Amino acid sequence: MTVHFIGAGPGAADLLTLRGRDLIASCPVCLYAGSLVPEAILSHCPEGAKVVNTAAMDLDAIMAEIQAAHEQGQDVARLHSGDLSVWSAMGEQLRRLRALEIPYSVTPGVPSFAAAAAALGTELTLPGLAQSLVLTRTPGRASAMPKGESLTNFAATGATLAIHLSIQNVEQVVGDLTPSYGADCPVAVVYRASWPDQRIIRTTLGELAEALDADITRTALILVGPALGGEGFDESCLYATDYDRRYRPQTAESPWASWSHGDD
Ligand SMILES: C[S@@+](CC[C@H](N)C(=O)[O-])C[C@H]1O[C@@H](n2cnc3c(N)ncnc32)[C@H](O)[C@@H]1O
Repeated sequence: MTVHFIGAGPGAADLLTLRGRDLIASCPVCLYAGSLVPEAILSHCPEGAKVVNTAAMDLDAIMAEIQAAHEQGQDVARLHSGDLSVWSAMGEQLRRLRALEIPYSVTPGVPSFAAAAAALGTELTLPGLAQSLVLTRTPGRASAMPKGESLTNFAATGATLAIHLSIQNVEQVVGDLTPSYGADCPVAVVYRASWPDQRIIRTTLGELAEALDADITRTALILVGPALGGEGFDESCLYATDYDRRYRPQTAESPWASWSHGDD
């Protein structure tokens, strides 16, 4: 018996890995975080599967479901939105499973920041503008931020910021970021990336609060940084005509000239 943690992706039912789909299809029990996991993904469950929405359950109740499946030797598909490596509550479940010696596996999913960037048609690490991406959030009722992880600290880097779980804190976002990025800094808000009702708002830090639709109160990402403007960036060396590199040595003297693909 194994508990398979599966990243269910950002919303579109077909943004699920083949491995994730096949694991869901193989499990007689499916526990899914119903607040964000789309129901369409549940169509991969086998007929007769026990399907439980965990949105209203606490950790003890979730573990009780898993233990009941464990006692019956039934594999469990455990679905969380996006990818499991960020804000999935997987860590606390794995800790309990390890203590109980219940086996588990982890299958990654498409994270919401990647779905939002795709919706925008934007590379978040444009040469000369940004080469780092910070996945962060503002503090919430249930989650304080560790010391040092403040928006003002991240803003000082000038990197692209993907701010999760914060659409209700727009005033704080603007206040903390404007001193470093400036009021003209490009911002994109992507609401429900990849869902049929996806919405995109392109604006600047200075106009963000006004540009935001009043009904966007959750499931939105705020992306901030010069890369969001999509202009004024350099071309990468990777495809530059005269760039000497392993896969495209420029001369017979190039250190790469004698390299063959079998070398490493
Ligand atoms: C609990 S976190 C889950 C993050 C998820 N594990 C991931 O990989 O993206 C929920 C937050 O992620 C963001 N989010 C999740 N799905 C989204 C989507 N389809 N479009 C935009 N933002 C999304 C929102 O900021 C939302 O408040």
